[in-house]
Amino acid sequence: MITVGDKDFVPFIERKTIEARIAALALQISQDYQAKRPLLVGVLNGAFMFAADLMKEISVPCEISFVKVSSYQQAASTGRVTQLIGLQEDLTGRHVVIVEDIVDTGLTMSEILTELQKQNPRSVEITTLLFKPEALRKAIRPRYVGFEIANRFVVGYGLDYNGLGRNLADLYVLAEAPGVA
Ligand code: IMP
Repeated sequence: MITVGDKDFVPFIERKTIEARIAALALQISQDYQAKRPLLVGVLNGAFMFAADLMKEISVPCEISFVKVSSYQQAASTGRVTQLIGLQEDLTGRHVVIVEDIVDTGLTMSEILTELQKQNPRSVEITTLLFKPEALRKAIRPRYVGFEIANRFVVGYGLDYNGLGRNLADLYVLAEAPGVA
């Protein structure tokens, strides 16, 4: 058991298992994008570690860029406004592979997709290390999924709890109750 901030977490998926799964995903991506020069688009902050490890295993020519989702509430009743910041590449005609740490409700991913589609890419697929199908509220279909997991809060390998825990090399899951492993 480990403590991150004020919460206890127990081991969930260990680094060797993560590495092996990433190698398999990278092989599949390499086969699917052989002459397509894909542009990986990593979503900061959570996906930085996954994106780096994934890209090292991809064996075909590829590029990478990173975006950050910044959302803010408008004073008027228009609701949440999402902006994608950081993308300098022209996506026109490009094969884009979004690299995300986790798709939970899918709201973030659906907003990212809307923004990227505005730039007329040739194709857009999603790679996510973790996918919580039970939490999904949008019609998001990630093409490459590391692990489908139950609707529980995880930390480590780039994912945080209140900014902490990203440095952990393994994944941990929130302990069911305080003090219970
Ligand atoms: P969504 O919009 O609900 O799909 O949430 C996506 C974002 O919420 C992810 O990019 C994460 O930053 C964060 N998130 C969702 N579930 C978890 C979790 O279990 N651990 C850490 N962050 C999470």
